[in-house]
Amino acid sequence: MSPAVLTQRGHFITFEGGEGAGKSTQVRMLAERLQRTGQQVLVTREPGGTPGAEIMRHLVLTGVGKALGPDFEALLFAAARDDHVTQVIRPALERGIWVLCDRFIDSTRVYQGRVGDVDPTLIRALERATIGSLRPDLTLVLDVPTEIGLARAAVRRGGSAIDRFEAEDISFHRRLRDAYRQVAAEEPDRCVLIDAGGLPPEVSARIWSVVEGRFADVLRPSIRAVARG
Ligand code: TYD
Repeated sequence: MSPAVLTQRGHFITFEGGEGAGKSTQVRMLAERLQRTGQQVLVTREPGGTPGAEIMRHLVLTGVGKALGPDFEALLFAAARDDHVTQVIRPALERGIWVLCDRFIDSTRVYQGRVGDVDPTLIRALERATIGSLRPDLTLVLDVPTEIGLARAAVRRGGSAIDRFEAEDISFHRRLRDAYRQVAAEEPDRCVLIDAGGLPPEVSARIWSVVEGRFADVLRPSIRAVARG
C-alpha cells in the first residue's frame, strides 16, 4: 500500500432518527454493500461500543439515570461517547476504515438538548470535551411518521421490557421527529434526511444513492473493479 493510502483517514457515517426508524437494519445493509465494493467497515453504536460505554448504556436505558435528571443523563451519554471515540472510532478512522455508527452527537442534541431541555451551553461543552474536532462526514437522519416508528419499535421489542425513552408519551416522540428534521435542515452539508418509510430494501436504495454520490471519488473506482470482477 502506498504511504498516501496508509495515511488516508477513513470515512465516518452516522445514522440518526427516532424510535423504530430502522437505523440498525440500515446500518447493517450499508455495511454489507460497502464491503461488497471491497471497503473495510466497522459497525458500532451509541450508547455502547466499549465495555465502559455498555455500563453507561445499562444505567441510562434501565431508567437509573432518569431519576437524577436530564443533565445527569447527558453526562452519562457524554462519558460513554468519550470512551467510544477514544477506544474505537478514532483508531478505526486513523487506520482508514469506514466507521458506521448507529447514533452519535445528534442523539444528544435532540433527546437531551432540544427535547430534554438541557441547557445548550452544557450540550456544546460536552460535545467539545468528547469529540473535539471530530465530525461525521455524513449523517443520515432516518425519518418516519411517529406512529409508524412506534409500531415498528413495539414489534421489534416483542415481549421484552420497554426502555426509558420508548416509554415516553407520543408528544415526546413527535417532538423528537420535529427536532431531527430541524437538525437536518440546519446542517445540510453534513446531514441528509432519508424517507425511512417502506420496506428495508427501498430505504437502503435511497441511502446508497446518497452515499455513492457523496463518496463518488472513493467508491466509483472500487465499484468498477468489482464489476470487472
Ligand atoms: P437503543 O436501544 O440503542 O435505541 P434505538 O434502537 O432507538 O437506537 O437505545 C438508545 C436510546 O438512547 C435511544 O432511545 C436514544 C437514546 N439516546 C439519547 O437519549 N442520547 C444519546 O446521546 C444517545 C446516543 C442515545
